[in-house]
Amino acid sequence: MRGNEGEEHNMKIALASDHAGFDLKKAVAEDLAGRGIAYVDFGCGPGENVDYVDFGAKAARSIVSGECDRGILVCGTGIGMGIVANKFKGIRAAPCWNEYTAEMSRLHNDCNCLTMGGRVLGPEEALRIVRVFLATAFEGGRHARRVDKIRRIEEENS
Ligand code: RB5
Repeated sequence: MRGNEGEEHNMKIALASDHAGFDLKKAVAEDLAGRGIAYVDFGCGPGENVDYVDFGAKAARSIVSGECDRGILVCGTGIGMGIVANKFKGIRAAPCWNEYTAEMSRLHNDCNCLTMGGRVLGPEEALRIVRVFLATAFEGGRHARRVDKIRRIEEENS
């Protein structure tokens, strides 16, 4: 099940990486450009050695502000970027490692941020994950109740 095919052309994607995710982020950026999908690259640049926190935070802020609709954040494992992004109110980020986890992150969790590991995934698998993440709609129903509970916890703790 997908349900959102074509919607990615109405989205602006926030991209970010650290040095460990740079090559994979570049592959994602090239794929998005080739498909006519808009994105903003919040860094890092080539040859830099950086802290993933700084770049993941910039991309997450752009989603919170409404400048971007979804985020794709790449570090070595996808874990650090996931932790950073999930500190922001309204962000639901998931490290995904195959098409199934990407699909579930949208169907059941309404995730607006995908994180991936540049040291974990090859570019072909990563691009498949991105396609599924962008093309899958939230299922709603009982899952909307669960996501609302997450929102309430977020409110209580902000
Ligand atoms: C950088 O060496 C690495 O720690 C970082 O890319 C990421 O995997 C952290 O979660």
